[in-house]
Amino acid sequence: MTATAAPDQSLHPGVIEFLSGKSKKFLINGRWQEAQSGKAFPVHNPATAEVISHAAEGDRADIDQAVAAARRALEDGSWPKMTPADRSKLLHKIADLVESHADELAQLETLNNGKTIRESRKGDLPLAVDLLRYFAGWATKIHGETIPVSVPYAPGTKFFHYTTREPIGVVGAIIPWNFPLLMAVERLAPILACGNTMVLKPAEQTPLTALRLGELLIEAGLPPGVVNIVSGFGPTAGAALSAHPDVDKVTFTGSTEVGRDIVRASAGNLKRVSLELGGKSPNIVFADADLEAAAKGIFMGIFYNQGQCCSAGSRVYVERSKFDELLTALTKRAQTVRQGPGLDPNTQMGPVVSQEQMERVLDYAASGKREGAKLLCGGQRLGGALAKGYFVGPTVFSDVRDQMKIAQEEIFGPVVAVMPFDSADEMAARANGTSYGLVAGVWTSNVKRAFQMAQKIKAGTIWINCYHFVDSASPWGGYKQSGYGREKGPYAIEQYTQVKSVWVDLN
Ligand code: NAI
Ligand code: MG
Repeated sequence: MTATAAPDQSLHPGVIEFLSGKSKKFLINGRWQEAQSGKAFPVHNPATAEVISHAAEGDRADIDQAVAAARRALEDGSWPKMTPADRSKLLHKIADLVESHADELAQLETLNNGKTIRESRKGDLPLAVDLLRYFAGWATKIHGETIPVSVPYAPGTKFFHYTTREPIGVVGAIIPWNFPLLMAVERLAPILACGNTMVLKPAEQTPLTALRLGELLIEAGLPPGVVNIVSGFGPTAGAALSAHPDVDKVTFTGSTEVGRDIVRASAGNLKRVSLELGGKSPNIVFADADLEAAAKGIFMGIFYNQGQCCSAGSRVYVERSKFDELLTALTKRAQTVRQGPGLDPNTQMGPVVSQEQMERVLDYAASGKREGAKLLCGGQRLGGALAKGYFVGPTVFSDVRDQMKIAQEEIFGPVVAVMPFDSADEMAARANGTSYGLVAGVWTSNVKRAFQMAQKIKAGTIWINCYHFVDSASPWGGYKQSGYGREKGPYAIEQYTQVKSVWVDLN
């Protein structure tokens, strides 16, 4: 085992306590345990590259055990006997616990993921609490319908016909590292509201907040086996979960490449799959827009969370007459961003999550230069006091053509391609010119054009004169290769339930 650095004594006492053990165990059937193999892997602070903890490294044997526990909890025990109102109360209790531990969880998130403390404390945490309360409300409102049937081939017959909405069963949730706690909660809340049980596999880069959440679930009184959390790597633990014959559904967020593996792995038992994959989202500024608001929107659209958002506005298009003005404003702002450890309250941008991600982002920046785009700032790892961490300077490219790799592929880092356009028709076609379709931003004061663009762009979310807004009630998911299915809102309830038709003979 790599040596673990002693936790900084200025951290929240809860974080110090959580990090003080030798290695974090994972949660199966209400018990904390080590991997059956005895293996554990190091967890890093991306701002310093230091090892801050170790986590048990689950693989197939542990996933088998976790799935068996989830199956038992689904079929017998107290969980299926619990009323919807009690499930709702339990989710509220979890929400209260997450809220009262918000400072601690935000620090732990920032320490492990790198994002600024402001983003984790003011963004991820309140959203996580809200998701738990939103779906707590849903638990008592999931119901079927009565349906008047006609049966044309049997005239005169009478039936009472109704539907019920039942849990899907055991759900496997495989989540990424960009919003570790938020993603865990976004899945857990509707999965439990609908009466399912689950096995959660957090990303190997960021297992800590999910494991801390597990402790809070136990404190809230969640019955054993309802939520099992197995830390580990994708090709082992993740693959075992997505191929498992006793898992009824997998919900996945991550790369398109792994999304395809998940679909293939689902074929064995035809498990249900929902996928939230990447994006290459256009953020489009018309000359008649409020340019000050647009400048802020395109900056935050790409650089929030160091660009590690599936919804990052990584293709910025500006109508030609305002192109130079906005490009200059964006570059200036990028050059003055204060970068540093996320825990420093003065930091505006933290490190990217890992060495691997940093190298991936720098490779893309190099490819932009090779293909002839003009690098205006960034494109390099930072040195000096930040040399040990995974810091990449905010990177702006102009002279980009739509066909270039940096305009087609998801970079998932602080890199933006800025391009001019001449007409709305041309713009709609170019906006749709990648294999992705997750989100798009449109900045204009022309109402008709705003609605027309919203209609023409093939994406799951369109933001008009705003960017990066999300809400528990608003459905989230992609068109095209950005995935299928919708998380959040009432659509999540459909996703985690199945419908049964019941016929009662009244003849
Ligand atoms: P990834 O797709 O490999 O990892 C995401 C999750 O899937 C992790 O929990 C990982 O352990 C798991 N996983 C990996 N391989 C698996 C397999 N064969 N079977 C089952 N589970 C598996 O993403 P990675 O490598 O961290 O990042 C690569 C790229 O993916 C990023 O540069 C970005 O473009 C994209 N990505 C998109 C995200 C989004 O929010 N849409 C989130 C994270 C990554
Ligand atoms: Mg990967």
